[in-house]
Amino acid sequence: MAAKRADIVVIGGGPAGYTAAIFAARSGADVLLADKARRPLMKLRISGKGRCNLTNNCTDEEFFDNIFRGGRFLRSAESRFGPHDIMDFVQGLGVPLKTERGRRVFPVSDRADDVAQALIDEAKRCGVRVIREEVKDIEQNDGEVTSVMTTSGRIGCSAAVLATGGRSYPATGSTGDGYAMASRLGHSVSGTYPALVSLTCREEWCAQAEGLSLRNVKLTCRKKKKVLFSEQGEMLFTSKGISGPLVLTLSSLIAGEDPESLDTWIDLKPSLDAQTLDKRLLRDMQEMSNRAFKNSLGELLPKSLIPVIVELSGIDPEKKVNGITAAERNKLRELLKHLPLTVTGTGGWNEAIVTAGGVSTREVDPRTMGSRLVRGLYLAGEILDADGATGGYNLTIAFSTGHAAGIAAAEYLKEKENTEAKDPGYGTGGRSMNAIAIDGPAGAGKSSIAKAAAKELGFIYVDTGALYRAIGLSALRNGIDIQDREGINRLLEVTKVDLGYVDGEQRVFLNGDDVSGQIRTEEVSMAASAVSAQPEVRAFLLDLQRDLARKNDVVMDGRDIGTVVLPEAGCKIFLTASAEERAMRRYKQLLEKGEKADYEAVLEDLRKRDYNDTHREIAPLKLADDGIEIDTTELDLEGSIRKVIETAKEKLGI
Ligand code: DC
Repeated sequence: MAAKRADIVVIGGGPAGYTAAIFAARSGADVLLADKARRPLMKLRISGKGRCNLTNNCTDEEFFDNIFRGGRFLRSAESRFGPHDIMDFVQGLGVPLKTERGRRVFPVSDRADDVAQALIDEAKRCGVRVIREEVKDIEQNDGEVTSVMTTSGRIGCSAAVLATGGRSYPATGSTGDGYAMASRLGHSVSGTYPALVSLTCREEWCAQAEGLSLRNVKLTCRKKKKVLFSEQGEMLFTSKGISGPLVLTLSSLIAGEDPESLDTWIDLKPSLDAQTLDKRLLRDMQEMSNRAFKNSLGELLPKSLIPVIVELSGIDPEKKVNGITAAERNKLRELLKHLPLTVTGTGGWNEAIVTAGGVSTREVDPRTMGSRLVRGLYLAGEILDADGATGGYNLTIAFSTGHAAGIAAAEYLKEKENTEAKDPGYGTGGRSMNAIAIDGPAGAGKSSIAKAAAKELGFIYVDTGALYRAIGLSALRNGIDIQDREGINRLLEVTKVDLGYVDGEQRVFLNGDDVSGQIRTEEVSMAASAVSAQPEVRAFLLDLQRDLARKNDVVMDGRDIGTVVLPEAGCKIFLTASAEERAMRRYKQLLEKGEKADYEAVLEDLRKRDYNDTHREIAPLKLADDGIEIDTTELDLEGSIRKVIETAKEKLGI
C-alpha cells in the first residue's frame, strides 16, 4: 500500500531522481522516491562498463562544447552544480574519485556500485522514503500538482519531480513512461531517438571487417551540402555496420535525420592530401611492380580491409601492379580518401547509451527545472531534451538538473506554505473568490462592460488582453517573427510586463515604459493573438494575473479567466455576440476615430482571431463549466452592462 502523502514525490530512481531527492530532503522537505525497478540506479551501475564515468573534470567551456542538445538551457543549472560540484558531492559521500584519459572521472574503486550505494545511503540518511512502485500518472488541479497515482493508489503531494529517464537500455527500467506523463500534463515531447549508439550500414563488407578498429581515420557525414560531422579519431566495424568513439558521436548528431538523406564516408588517410597520397601510391607501386594487386596493399591498409578495397576498386586482384593504369590508381586513391558508407539506422534502444530528444526545454524554467505549464512539477535528467557526448557529460546533466529540481521543489513548497498561511483566498482549494471573470471573443464588448461593472461595484478592472498585446508589441518591435516560438521565448527572458493604474485607468508597462497607447493597432492585435497561443507566453503572464486577483476584488476580462486563470472566481461570464455584429461595432469604432476602415476586412480579421483563440491547444476560449453565457447581439451597451451587473451580484451575493 502506497504512502498517502509526501511533500515531494520524486518519480524515478536514477541519478537525477536520487540527486533531486537528496537535495530536496537536505532543504527540509519530506520526500518520497518512487521507482518501479527491482533495484534502483540500475543504469548508473552498468554505466562506463560498470565503472561509472560520473562526470568530466573539465571547464565550463569544455563542458558545453560536448553538449549536443540543450546547451543553452543547461547553463544555469550547470553553473550552480557543475562537474566540480558533482565531484565534491560524490567524494563527500565517501567515494574517492580519479580522473582518467579524456578527463573522465571514475570512482577510485572502479566500481559503479559504490557510487550507487553512496547515493542510496545518503538518501536514507536525509530521510527520503523509497518505495518500489510504478507511478502511472501525475495529477493536477487548476494547473497545480496535487498527487501522483501509483499502481497501488494515490499519493498526495505538493510537488513532483519527474526523473524517469529516457528510453535507452530499457532492461534497466528506462522505458520512457515519463514522456507520456509529461505530455498528458500539456508538455511537448519531441521525437526520441537512440543516441551514442552504433550505426547499421547497407555495405555488406562491414561484416567482413567486423572487429577491425581503425585509428586516426576521419569520418565525415553530410546532409546535402551541409557537413553534419567531420572528425578524426577511432572507429570500428561490426557485423551490421560501424561503431566506436567517432560513430557514437556521429549517431547523436544525426539522431532523427532520415538516413537516406545522408552521405557518409571514411577518409582512411586523413593526414595525406590527394597529391601526397598519389605520390605514395606511385612509389609503392614502383617498389612492388611485379606483385599481384591484391598482395600490394599490406603497407597501406589493415589486413581485413584489403579484400574490401580491392573489390570496390574494380581492379583485377590478380593484375600485376605495373599494369595498373593511371585511371585505376586514381580510383584507388579516391577510395582511400572517400570510402563510402550508407547508414541505414542505429543499433537501437538496447544499445543506445542515451536518448536524443524528449520533453521540450522551452517549457521548463532553466533555473529551477520547473514546468512552465504546471506549478509544482519539476523535470530532471534524461527525460529532458538535452544530451551530450560520451565522457561523463550525460551523467553530469542528470546530476546538475536533479540538483536544481530538488532545491527548487523544496523552495516552492516553502513559498506555497507561506502564501497559503497568509492568504486564505486563491489556491486554498475550491473556495470561491470575489472575482468576476469575463471571457469571450474579441469585440463582444467585454472591456466596456467590464469597466462599467467594475466602476459600479467598486472592483478594479483588469484587461488581460493588454498583457498579451504588450508581448505582441515587443515581438514586433524586436523584429521577431510571431510564429517563431524559440525567438519569443528568448524575448520573454528579457521582458517585463506590468499593469498599473493612473487616474483609475489601467496602463500597461513594457520593460517600465507605458505602452498603453501603442497596443491597439490591428497589427498588434494579430501579433497578440499569435503569441497568446504559446504555452510559455501564457505561463509567463499567469502569476501576474492571479496576483492581481489575490490582492484585489477584480473584474478581469480575457479568454481563459474563468477556465484557467481564476477557476475559483465567484462569477464567470462568457460574453458573446455574432461575428457580424462584433465586426460592425469595431468598424463603427474605427470610423468614429476617423480611421479608414473596411467592414469586410474587419470581419475577416475578427474571424481569424476567433479561430486562433478557440482552436489553440492551450487555454482555448470556451465557456467554463460553471460559466454563464450572455449574448449581446441584440442588447445595447447599457442593457449588456445591466445584465452583467445583475448576474454578478446574484452570483457573488453582494
Ligand atoms: O482582448 P484583446 O483583444 O485585447 O486580446 C488580445 C489577444 O490576446 C487576443 O487575440 C487573445 C489574447 N488573449 C488571451 O489569449 N487570453 C486572455 N486572457 C486575454 C487575451
